[in-house]
Amino acid sequence: IKDALSPSEEAALEGPLPSGGEGESTVSITVVGASGDLAKKKIFPALFALFYEGCLPKHFTIFGYARSKMTDQELRNLISGTLTCRIDQRESCDDKIDKFLKNCFYHSGQYNSEADFKQLDAKLKVHEGGRLANRLFYLSIPPNIFIDVARCASRSSSPAKGWTRVIVEKPFGRDSESSAELTTGLKQFLSEEQIYRIDHYLGKELVENLSVLRFSNLVFEPLWSRQYIRNVQFLFSEDFGTEGRGGYFDNYGIIRDIMQNHLLQMLALFAMEPPVSLDAEDIRNEKVKVLRSMRALHLEDIVVGQYKSHVRGGVKYPGYTDDKTVPSNSITPTFAAAALFIDNARWDGVPFLMKAGKALHNRRTEIRVQFRHVPGNLYKRSFGTDLDQATNELVIRVQPDEAIYLKINNKIPGLGMRLDRSNLNLHYADRYSREIPDAYERLLLDAVEGERRLFIRSDELDAAWAIFTPLLKELELRKVAPELYPYGSRGPVGAHYLAAKYNVRWG
Ligand code: NDP
Ligand code: BG6
Repeated sequence: IKDALSPSEEAALEGPLPSGGEGESTVSITVVGASGDLAKKKIFPALFALFYEGCLPKHFTIFGYARSKMTDQELRNLISGTLTCRIDQRESCDDKIDKFLKNCFYHSGQYNSEADFKQLDAKLKVHEGGRLANRLFYLSIPPNIFIDVARCASRSSSPAKGWTRVIVEKPFGRDSESSAELTTGLKQFLSEEQIYRIDHYLGKELVENLSVLRFSNLVFEPLWSRQYIRNVQFLFSEDFGTEGRGGYFDNYGIIRDIMQNHLLQMLALFAMEPPVSLDAEDIRNEKVKVLRSMRALHLEDIVVGQYKSHVRGGVKYPGYTDDKTVPSNSITPTFAAAALFIDNARWDGVPFLMKAGKALHNRRTEIRVQFRHVPGNLYKRSFGTDLDQATNELVIRVQPDEAIYLKINNKIPGLGMRLDRSNLNLHYADRYSREIPDAYERLLLDAVEGERRLFIRSDELDAAWAIFTPLLKELELRKVAPELYPYGSRGPVGAHYLAAKYNVRWG
């Protein structure tokens, strides 16, 4: 162990550990996979933002852990080179960055070596300085090594009295069986209370706001049922392809990458019954209940697509299979549209439509709630034959340019009686001057504070996989070929037929 310590760390370990002040505690956050894309792009910037905002405790240490050889200084260079976060332009940012980096260290080791994790443990102890030690491990690594790391970290980590928590990144398996295996594997070394399964969509401001919208406004909750809602749509699109992540993506596809987690989580929060309280277990109980009331998906309620190359404005945009890390005959979907149903009293018969795709014409994530027609509408003549144009629609724009707006019918000012559709619009950038924190900031802070409300419990995960696994198996067994759509388009036409089958028009 000593070989791994710097001279000052070694001296500290040999002498008596500095005794922490009465009741003082420390938090160490170890980013496992610190050399990777997610660590650079999201985790380190989020940790810095938390530090900047004064949300990290007085005594904290950040460790990067990966196989790549790096010195502490090299890690600091890597972090400071990627701190393109929402606050990097603020005054005193440089000063704060310097202070933050002084708390950042690196340890190189294998993911399956208890000895390497013991060396990390020794280093952590030096920095913990005898205080009550709390440790958070963030597994930002490929899922096939999650269990190795859980084993090594739990067997080699001996913090003084405090808690140990482990954040696990998706994907949590590929289907019900592999997900259950992963859960069993992790639970050999960690309790459910220690496992924080992250779905970063739950940390997005407007997703967190869903419960506030529903349960603290009288005007929405009474309408939140089959009686008034015709259909609900969960839409995700990106205007770029899988560039750089083709190797990962081809093994998963859009249904596992986006629908089974991000969109389904939004759906659960949207459709669950009111929880007994805001306690994590009460909320997660309701999410499990609604997920378990959902029908499993089958081929007749899905359309899959894959983007192909397209030339626009003299620029050639690559097709999915042009990526060298993707097999040229891949049938992995980069687009899917699905119709889901919740068989309970509140939602019986209401189609919940999902659409998710890469390399489409725009980037957006939205929830669209289309309401029923007004019975006996006195003004129906003002809308001609297309009564669908007269129904209310509530749009929750999760990103970009966050907004919540309600489409209503309104009289056009003047002497005549003409109506139009206008928006009651809560546009975040106009209403709130504060910038919106990144989802990873919220979730990291919650993990440090032991708040599990926005993390996925294992029974929730089981219920989510039960909805998608039969479909994923059918797609693989029958080798269903995706409908090709041009890069930058609106996706396959099949999605419109699917919506039409349920009398729905995509928003
Ligand atoms: P990377 O592929 O960049 O891997 C992270 C680190 O893990 C690498 O720097 C590498 O470190 C190590 N590693 C990579 N492949 C292997 C391997 N086969 N065996 C052992 N170690 C390996 O992943 P990301 O940073 O992109 O993602 C981390 C996790 O987060 C993954 O589970 C991913 O699915 C998930 N995720 C990623 C997102 C993203 O935008 N990147 C978004 C959402 C989830 P070294 O070689 O130094 O040990
Ligand atoms: C990740 C997916 O979970 O979410 C990516 O693996 C996707 O494929 C990303 O691009 C989208 O996240 P965001 O926050 O940029 O919408």
